[in-house]
Amino acid sequence: MYQLVYVSTAARGQSLEDVGAILKVSRRNNVRDGLTGMLYADDRRFLQALEGEEAHVMAAFTRIQKDPRHRAVVVLSRRTVAAREFGAWEMAHAGPGHDADGMVDKVGRLAAGASPAIKATFEGFLEARRAA
Ligand SMILES: Cc1cc2nc3c(=O)[nH]c(=O)nc-3n(C[C@H](O)[C@H](O)[C@H](O)COP(=O)(O)O)c2cc1C
Repeated sequence: MYQLVYVSTAARGQSLEDVGAILKVSRRNNVRDGLTGMLYADDRRFLQALEGEEAHVMAAFTRIQKDPRHRAVVVLSRRTVAAREFGAWEMAHAGPGHDADGMVDKVGRLAAGASPAIKATFEGFLEARRAA
């Protein structure tokens, strides 16, 4: 089982509504390819974890990297894991009108099974988003 986590910056003019379109296609492809994970999105940043067979994770990531809806894609972690740490494909998003603490709780639950290093990565990201 392979796991890849990256962050990126939303393209200018991208709105949270546009995330709906990304999710629709992602859910369809990820079910087909046996991928699970999570996508966190707010008005400026994405944080995504993808898990599955290495070839499928890398095929999806190759498409994702080329996607003009975001830029500055930076891999935070890529490694083999014994079992899925994110059991389902889920999405957490935050933006104007969204309750930041509730969102942090949700991401915390999604990352609950993750290794300490990955959990720390998510917590650090969310801390920074909360402070922003
Ligand atoms: C932040 C972000 C996350 C994405 N996540 C996924 C994903 O998990 N799975 C996926 O197949 N496509 C994802 N995409 C979309 C891909 O970049 C690409 O548009 C899509 O895979 C093309 O699918 P299609 O060939 O079936 O149209 C994501 C795009 C962005 C901008």
